[in-house]
Amino acid sequence: MDSASFRAIGPTTYLCPTPTVLVGCAADAAWRSGGANRPNLITIAWTGICCSKPPMLSISVRPERYSHALLTQSGEFTVNLISEELLHAMDLCGVKSGRDMDKFGSLGLHPMAAQGLEIAPALQEAPAYLSCKVRQVITLGSHDLFLAEIVDVCVRESFFNVDGSIDEQAMALVAFVHGKYRALGKEIGFFGYSVASEDVLRRRLPHAAANQNVRAGKRSGKRLLRKDGKA
Ligand SMILES: Cc1cc2nc3c(=O)[nH]c(=O)nc-3n(C[C@H](O)[C@H](O)[C@H](O)COP(=O)(O)O)c2cc1C
Repeated sequence: MDSASFRAIGPTTYLCPTPTVLVGCAADAAWRSGGANRPNLITIAWTGICCSKPPMLSISVRPERYSHALLTQSGEFTVNLISEELLHAMDLCGVKSGRDMDKFGSLGLHPMAAQGLEIAPALQEAPAYLSCKVRQVITLGSHDLFLAEIVDVCVRESFFNVDGSIDEQAMALVAFVHGKYRALGKEIGFFGYSVASEDVLRRRLPHAAANQNVRAGKRSGKRLLRKDGKA
């Protein structure tokens, strides 16, 4: 196989899958006491974790979006994860503007105070949300990048296993792949599985084909990493 086996499609935003989330924002905290300025939801696919200490993420928002001014004014937002149940509402929030409609009210969704924030609402129906405070806004071109610190994360109680771990499979999360939404499939590996012991693999991936791949790799004597995990 050589470069002739690939077709160039130009310098485009072809990174997939990405998450797609509902970002909760508001101009001020008046909505908490039934005030005039209603909170809003905007669908965002261009988001990603970019630092672990402090925990940070970014969202890219076009200046012409109604939400852009709310984000700039409040300096806060929530990132609400999307379950299959929320998919229809999430798509609608990505094609309608909060200028013209009350997205929460018309979709039967409920804003709630977000842990660690004073203004931005979290989405009660989401499986989990991240509370974010804007630290920097970078003008890029078509989009402004909001770099934000994650000041807290809340996960719905029902998604906790008895041992305190979180069951993301039960959340039925959705991915965005080049304009299409896709359900996530079964777990086929975990961080570090390529160097995990047979015991750990048996416990954590009892039915996975990946398990056999690792065994095959070991049998054929291939060692990609040293014992200490370094390449
Ligand atoms: C799947 C999907 C992903 C989107 N991702 C982004 C994004 O990353 N940045 C952005 O500015 N707009 C994005 N949009 C478009 C906005 O969500 C859309 O323009 C929305 O109506 C703006 O709402 P607002 O005017 O209430 O702020 C996306 C739309 C969809 C459907």
